[in-house]
Amino acid sequence: MSFPNNFLWGASIAAHQCEGSFAGDGKGRGISEREDYKKPLSDFYHHYKKDIELFSELGLKAFRLSIDWSRIYPDPWGEANQIGINYYRDLLGTLKEKGIIPIVTLSHYEMPYEISKIHGFYSKESVDLFMKYVRTCFDNFGDLVTYWLTFNELNCEHMPGHNKMNGIISSENHLEWDYVSLNNKLVASAKATILLHEMFPKSKMGNMIGYFPIYPETSNPKDFMKMMFKTNLLHHICLEVQCNGEYPYFAHNYFKQNNIDIQLTEEEKAILKSGVVDFISMSYYCSNVVTYKYDAPRASGNQIGGIDNPFLKKNDWGWTIDPEGLRIVLNDCYQRYKKPIIIVENGLGAYDKVENNKVHDDYRIEYFHNHLSELKKAVDDGVDIFGYCLWSAIDIVSVSAYTIQKRYGLIYVDVDDDGNGTFKRIKKDSFDYYKKVIETNGEAI
Ligand code: BG6
Repeated sequence: MSFPNNFLWGASIAAHQCEGSFAGDGKGRGISEREDYKKPLSDFYHHYKKDIELFSELGLKAFRLSIDWSRIYPDPWGEANQIGINYYRDLLGTLKEKGIIPIVTLSHYEMPYEISKIHGFYSKESVDLFMKYVRTCFDNFGDLVTYWLTFNELNCEHMPGHNKMNGIISSENHLEWDYVSLNNKLVASAKATILLHEMFPKSKMGNMIGYFPIYPETSNPKDFMKMMFKTNLLHHICLEVQCNGEYPYFAHNYFKQNNIDIQLTEEEKAILKSGVVDFISMSYYCSNVVTYKYDAPRASGNQIGGIDNPFLKKNDWGWTIDPEGLRIVLNDCYQRYKKPIIIVENGLGAYDKVENNKVHDDYRIEYFHNHLSELKKAVDDGVDIFGYCLWSAIDIVSVSAYTIQKRYGLIYVDVDDDGNGTFKRIKKDSFDYYKKVIETNGEAI
């Protein structure tokens, strides 16, 4: 089998990691921005027209971007910022001119910092504020966008230590707060889906989860059990609610065992039921290993703190490189939920070197070759996959490492962490590789 003819070969970015222009043109502070957050990043805000020309040369069929809520509503209780609206309308219009399909995330770790005053998504009021923002997006951009995503990596946002992404600025770790916030976000996501279907019946809404397979360390059934419960908790609460419209038994059980009241109302239950997504989207970077023995040493750099996997290589930040895991994840999700799937993030963060105006990133080409080969096998397995957007289109600042030196882009941006540089764009060797892949609809993987 080969990739379907209309396969969405794409690339992704997120506003807060690349736009720059903080507090410019009426933008408010976003929740992911530190107080001293003055880095110009890749200054996509001022370079998007030129960047989109490069995307067009690359042959992109799709481009995933996010809208920064704090650029639209610097004050979430106040008026919309017309300059922000104009910016995104022009950006989306430019993509349309080039025939590139936008896939738009409504919140990619982005929300106005002001929402922390009400403890972010711990408060049900944030759902109303989010819906006010969503309506503004649909009113202003709905005619230009067919594919929407609600919250980026919703399942990761309630992992311990990620409370800030929910608008909760508190050093304490409240397990109950995590799940109350998650519930409010799931309700907000379902409401956005219902509204989209009412306003634009032909448009499609997807969820977005960060999916990394979890392996048991040994064939000891205890390890398998540990893997199963961890996988359920981490990945399948969100998927079950967003795809099937209700909390699964293992979520109810977990809440009961941990004395968690997620404050789910009868009205919200009905909203979750009618607001199921049209498709699944996910990021895929690495995998983890668990053991039932709590005293096993933890692997450094691993996203969810599992133990070392001796079979896999790691990147410079300790993230495992596991192409076959991608095929496993795709089969697992399709078998469970039977919805079309798109990969919206997959890529290699690496230190790149410019030599004579070139970046020879053969390590990144190897990474994409291996992952795309497994993606192709998943298509052959019969999984309904309609697109692949790699991470990332251009170099942007890393979320976990908070540096632009962890580069992911196909296009190098000449800027350092202090904002020194020319902002010149340089096509890396991986740009030429991916261009061929797109031109041949995957034959040149
Ligand atoms: C995903 C996020 O988790 O991973 C992106 O959606 C992020 O925003 C990407 O950039 C890579 O992670 P990092 O921490 O290296 O930027």
